[in-house]
Amino acid sequence: MDVLSLLSSARLVPVVVLDDAADADALAGALVAGGLPVAEVTFRTSAAADSIRAMSARGDILVGAGTVLTVAQVDQAVAAGASFVVSPGLSRAVVERCQDKGVLALPGAVTATEVQAALELGITTVKFFPAGTSGGAAAIKALAAPFGDVRFVPTGGVGPKNLAEYLAIPTVAAVGGSWMVPRNLVKSGDFADIQALTAEAVAMVRTLLA
Ligand code: 3PG
Repeated sequence: MDVLSLLSSARLVPVVVLDDAADADALAGALVAGGLPVAEVTFRTSAAADSIRAMSARGDILVGAGTVLTVAQVDQAVAAGASFVVSPGLSRAVVERCQDKGVLALPGAVTATEVQAALELGITTVKFFPAGTSGGAAAIKALAAPFGDVRFVPTGGVGPKNLAEYLAIPTVAAVGGSWMVPRNLVKSGDFADIQALTAEAVAMVRTLLA
C-alpha cells in the first residue's frame, strides 16, 4: 500500500510534539500498542529529526514529519526516514522538494485559492488546517462541490467531540490531531495513558465507520 492509502486506512494521524528524542521509541510503542501505527512528528522541537529516526528504525510504524516549513527541514525529515511531510500551509518550495525526494507532501489548504494552488503543484490531498477556525466540516463539504477529487485531512481543534462530523464527509481521507498524544503525558512518560487514549480513539473510529 502507498503512504496515502495507509493514512487513509488508519483514518487518524496523531500529531506528536517530542521534547526529547529519548521518548520517541516508547511513544511509538504506545501508539502501536493502542492500534494506531502512525505518527506525525512535528518540527516544533529540535528533537524532531532524531525522534523520526528512532521511530522509523522500529519498522512497525508509519512515520511522517509535521510542521515542515522549509526545504532544509524536508531534507532532515527524509534523511531521518520520514515517509510523509505535513505543513501547516502551502509552500511551493517544500512541496517541490518532497516531490524531488519522492515523499508524500501534505500541505495545508483551507480556501478555494489554496486548494487550486495545491492542484497546480500536483497535490490532490491537503491538510485542512486549522480545521476548527477555518469553517470546520461545513467548509470541507462546501469545497467538495468544486473540488470533488480533492481529499482533506482536517486537523486543528479536532477531538472526540467532533470526530464524527469530519469522518462522515466522503472527501475526508483521515483526521489529524494531538488529543491522543498530549505533550504533558509524553513529557511525564505516561505512555500507558497515551496507549489508552489511542485505543479509545481507534475504537471510536471503528464504531463510527461500522
Ligand atoms: C497540528 O499541527 O496539526 C496541530 O497542532 C494539531 O492540532 P490539535 O492540537 O488541535 O489537534
